[in-house]
Amino acid sequence: MNVAALLSWYRANRRSMPWRDHPDPYAVWVSEIMLQQTRIETVRHYFTRFLERFPTWQELARAPLQDVLKMWEGLGYYSRARNLLKAAQSLRELPDSLEGWRELPGVGPYTAAAIASVCYGVCAPVVDGNVSRVMARLDCLSDDFSQIGNRNKLAERLQPWIEKADSPGDFNQAMMELGETVCLPQTPLCDACPLCAECKAKKRKRQSEFPVRREKKQIPLRQVLASLMVNDKGEYLFTRRPEEGLLGGLWELPNVPTTRKASNQEAAQRFAELLGTTPRETRYAGTVTHVFTHFRQRLHIYRVAVSRDLTLGRNYRFAVPSKLPLTTATRKALRLGPSARQSARQES
Ligand code: ADE
Repeated sequence: MNVAALLSWYRANRRSMPWRDHPDPYAVWVSEIMLQQTRIETVRHYFTRFLERFPTWQELARAPLQDVLKMWEGLGYYSRARNLLKAAQSLRELPDSLEGWRELPGVGPYTAAAIASVCYGVCAPVVDGNVSRVMARLDCLSDDFSQIGNRNKLAERLQPWIEKADSPGDFNQAMMELGETVCLPQTPLCDACPLCAECKAKKRKRQSEFPVRREKKQIPLRQVLASLMVNDKGEYLFTRRPEEGLLGGLWELPNVPTTRKASNQEAAQRFAELLGTTPRETRYAGTVTHVFTHFRQRLHIYRVAVSRDLTLGRNYRFAVPSKLPLTTATRKALRLGPSARQSARQES
């Protein structure tokens, strides 16, 4: 691989990013966690806000989970935020080796390699989706890079090249940046590529065949009936998801599982069981769908009003949406607007 050409391309074309010019390991760590599964343009704004709110890992370590989730709201994959907080709380100081970073919750081999190469000049190649696409085309590799064994093999292939680079951090970032901005999944911009002359797929005009696409499995659909209820202060009723598991610790509309959209009457019965009182009014308001990696979630939403005060458990709360970390599906549902107002009492 023409490492010199790759590095000079990167140095001329690197996009400016808030964490690139201040290689504070904490900032790089936060950025790399946010960049897992998420595009750079989405991360920029979240990163800046997060660092304003938690400028050091010590301040992060002292923060309540709910505050950290609030700063993560909308970014998805919330276990990343939970792990980041857990890791900060476990630290006495930031690690300075690849192995040290690997031990932290939420830091896999790819993230550890990114941090250790950028901050400490460690020759550890990053293998993410972008890098594997570049390499699959460069050498016409038909491996399935969702398999850890194949990613490890790719890291071994990259090892001699990263060792040739005067900056291992720039080498890794150049490979990722090349995949993100030039070696695009659909239409690669080969004329702008510093590795074009040595790309086997380009030579054979087979760029679209690499990386080899595996058939996507059909993902299941999960449906719920969700109640949209607002009190006379304009606060909505939310419930908190259990801390462990999917969307753990986030708040959502009170809901019950279903296999289909229900009539207003059926929905009213289900909400009566959930809330301990029969609603005075239950009116279908709309349906929203949210797609997760492993399933789709469909919320059939009903505006609900009750005639007496509700007695609510600890995991229920009336609040204005800006005060709580909400799931994205909940924020979509709230766009349907409030229902008739009503009063409610909360158990302390
Ligand atoms: N994707 C994840 N981390 C990155 C980085 N440091 N530079 C460019 N793209 C990335």
